[in-house]
Amino acid sequence: MKVGILGTGEVGRTLGAGFANLGHEVRIGSREPGSDKVQAWVKQTGARASSGTFAETAAFAEVAVLATLWSGTESALQLAGAKNLAGKVVIDATNPLVFQQGKPPALALGHDDSGGEQVQRWLPDARVVKAFNIVGHAHMVKPQFPGGPPDMFIAGNDRAAKETVARILADFGWPEPIDLGGIEGARLLEPMCILWVLYGIGVGSWNHAFKMLRR
Ligand SMILES: NC(=O)c1ccc[n+]([C@@H]2O[C@H](COP(=O)([O-])OP(=O)(O)OC[C@H]3O[C@@H](n4cnc5c(N)ncnc54)[C@H](OP(=O)(O)O)[C@@H]3O)[C@@H](O)[C@H]2O)c1
Repeated sequence: MKVGILGTGEVGRTLGAGFANLGHEVRIGSREPGSDKVQAWVKQTGARASSGTFAETAAFAEVAVLATLWSGTESALQLAGAKNLAGKVVIDATNPLVFQQGKPPALALGHDDSGGEQVQRWLPDARVVKAFNIVGHAHMVKPQFPGGPPDMFIAGNDRAAKETVARILADFGWPEPIDLGGIEGARLLEPMCILWVLYGIGVGSWNHAFKMLRR
């Protein structure tokens, strides 16, 4: 599969390497695809990795991952071009965070809207699925915890797109993700990021993830 990663931060580089290690062809997109950081990632990731502009990466993708700083996400998607992502599965790993000096991050929107819904509005013809946003990048690929695999929650309007993402998640070590329904489920998933961060600040470590217990 050709995977386009929109974003060169920790999440983009981690998930991109994860896809390449699974045998997929991966292009990572940036405003500066020739930068030292991006070229170092391409070199380290190997023959299945390449870089491009946001537009080249979106056009290349069969499945895309959105992993951009929230404040730059609209701009990145404008550069990517909504038509380049039309009909495609777009995994939205972003969190709509506002950073304030000396305080934990807050959400830029919520309750009656979400970043996931905003991304779907910016990409009206794409099949957006919220996933990967509730855990730190260090645990996104093959998470290892004493209690077994944690749970990933997903949300999106397109059933087939969610099935595709569920298969990808299983390959990444997240079996049977919990489907919250339409993309408005992102209203619940994005606050989970804040919960994850606040717990991490409280205990001073970033080695935790969510699990749903059932009987
Ligand atoms: N870090 C984590 O562990 C984690 C976990 C879960 C979810 N998330 C979410 O995942 C997303 C990515 O996080 P991250 O830490 O990997 O990276 P990040 O630093 O939040 O974002 C880096 C990417 O954003 C792009 N970007 C920034 N400003 C831009 C602008 N004005 N216009 C266009 N593009 C812009 C950068 O483009 P260039 O390449 O051109 O510089 C870069 O590719 C965020 O929404 C974050 O909240 C992060």
